Amino acid sequence: MSESRARFGDRLDVGLQGKTAVLIGGGPGIGQAVAHAFVAADCTTVVTDVNLVAAKGTCDMLGPKAEPLHVDVLDRASVRAMLADVVERHGAPIGVVDVVGVARAKTFEDTKDEDWDVMQNLNLRQQFIVAQEAVRVIQPGGSYVAIASLNGTVSSPFNIAYGSAKAGLVSLVRSLAVEIAPPESG
Ligand SMILES: NC(=O)c1ccc[n+]([C@@H]2O[C@H](COP(=O)([O-])OP(=O)(O)OC[C@H]3O[C@@H](n4cnc5c(N)ncnc54)[C@H](O)[C@@H]3O)[C@@H](O)[C@H]2O)c1
Repeated sequence: MSESRARFGDRLDVGLQGKTAVLIGGGPGIGQAVAHAFVAADCTTVVTDVNLVAAKGTCDMLGPKAEPLHVDVLDRASVRAMLADVVERHGAPIGVVDVVGVARAKTFEDTKDEDWDVMQNLNLRQQFIVAQEAVRVIQPGGSYVAIASLNGTVSSPFNIAYGSAKAGLVSLVRSLAVEIAPPESG
């Protein structure tokens, strides 16, 4: 039994068997847990990260259903090339999950322009790039998923740049859903 099956048992019989998913930000952390869940659902999982060693580490834990690939989400050409590689080798993915994000807790007073830009780039701008590239290749009925944060909906001190970016991400995904999601059937 694979480690993922041991961890999740048969709970993840969710129709992903034989399909391919792309996980972006698959090093240790939430991304690794998502990768475990995909593999437990018998889904081929392309684990991507700017840190290829970290992605390989995740794949080593998951066995042959997981394969590592490099991507830098700050670079549209890199995202496009990674997705083209996936499509060429596996066909259109059923989903793309982007967990990349970074928090930098600072007071409002101490937050520098550079802090603001880093938070915007890694917690909002890159998801715009990834979403735009992903919806071009995801198969019909598939999903694009981005990880926000409680800080995007509930205000807390020392998180003005992070929370603002995550709030933007919540809005981005909601706006995307109403613009491109298929109309409800029935
Ligand atoms: N950890 C928490 O408690 C928590 C709480 C709420 C929300 N979140 C959100 O969940 C997500 C994952 O959090 P985490 O703590 O597991 O993060 P993490 O820092 O452990 O992992 C993020 C991964 O993204 C990768 N990455 C960074 N820059 C990249 C780039 N330019 N291109 C490709 N990959 C890149 C990193 O190498 C790393 O493997 C983030 O979006 C975070 O904001 C985390």
